[in-house]
Amino acid sequence: MDAAKAGGYGRRHADIRMLILGIETSCDETAVAVVSDEEPRIRANLVLSQLEEHRPYGGVVPEIAARAHLDHLDGLIAAALERAGVGFGDLSAVAATGGPGLIGGVMVGVMEAKAICFARDLPFIAVNHLEGHALSARLVGDLPYPFLLLLVSGGHCQLLIVEGVGRYSRLGTTVDDAAGECFDKGAKLLGLGYPGGPAIARAAETGSASRFPLPRPMQGRAGCDFSFSGLKTALAGTVAKLESESALDQRARADLAAALQAAINDCLLDRTANALAVFRAKHPGARHLVAAGGVAANAELRRGLSGLAAKAGCDLVLPPPALCTDNAAMIAWAGIERFKAGLADGLDFAPRPRWPLDPASLERSQTQR
Ligand code: KG4
Ligand code: ZN
Repeated sequence: MDAAKAGGYGRRHADIRMLILGIETSCDETAVAVVSDEEPRIRANLVLSQLEEHRPYGGVVPEIAARAHLDHLDGLIAAALERAGVGFGDLSAVAATGGPGLIGGVMVGVMEAKAICFARDLPFIAVNHLEGHALSARLVGDLPYPFLLLLVSGGHCQLLIVEGVGRYSRLGTTVDDAAGECFDKGAKLLGLGYPGGPAIARAAETGSASRFPLPRPMQGRAGCDFSFSGLKTALAGTVAKLESESALDQRARADLAAALQAAINDCLLDRTANALAVFRAKHPGARHLVAAGGVAANAELRRGLSGLAAKAGCDLVLPPPALCTDNAAMIAWAGIERFKAGLADGLDFAPRPRWPLDPASLERSQTQR
């Protein structure tokens, strides 16, 4: 199929039944899924973590990630099709993460998807990784547009009104680190390993959040922006002090993990409460609050959000933890929604290392500077 033909799927396909292969390679998980718009929606959802390959470096090494995706992707696609009990001939389209992310990895996934589409004469859909997270809650339940989304991952921390496929209005973002980054850097400071979120959550189970007071940047202030760098600096100061006193023992680590988790989550809840007020003023009939992205797997945050939703009288929708962290089912699902809205791409699509969900918010922040 030539590029012009591949790009010619501009009509809406609201009613057709779809079975789509999804590919996610934007960070350190190689993930492949087969998803349908008919129940059961998720036919296969495989995630191959590269944790062991990156662990010695305490973070993701882009070059290692890209090579690992290349090594594993073919085999994982074959395994996903087998798990779903289908072949390439049964697919209606292929969706791959087109950005944002580590560009080497994104290129591996996009090229693989394009090759399948070219060989099999299938439509290709480039999915914004953030849109994958944003629509993941619609994959598992009946969730109408518009909804308020807290999108919290390793690289992003945003509050958005999701008005429809491809229609996002950003209410706030982080002015420095993302929430997941704060978990990851905190875990590194405490020597708890990588990835930090699950490690902090585990250590926090036996800790007391009140022993070490940590700040809650932005809490109580108007607006929906986040900031976490002051919190990280405060944690670093406490860790250095304890180290100098030879007092950074297991107990102190657990207490600091609990304090950090509580501080991050308090910040997230405070800003989400402000965003809820903006959302409801704009959409008086709407009532759904959604959280997505890796940090939304955090059990304490999930409890906090359910308290916030109950107090505000709105409905909370949380994807299961395995669909909060990176996966390809969310990419395939976003591909289905995009295809049905007539938004397929040409084989000339160029991977995008940066790809904001709400491009207008970039212009707004640039003019504000
Ligand atoms: O969405 P994701 O898998 O990848 C990105 O798109 O970034 O998010 C990864 C982030 C990491 O920072 C990780 O530490 C964090 O999500 N995370 C968690 C938990 N599980 C993953 N943070 C807090 N609690 C968790 N249970
Ligand atoms: Zn992600």
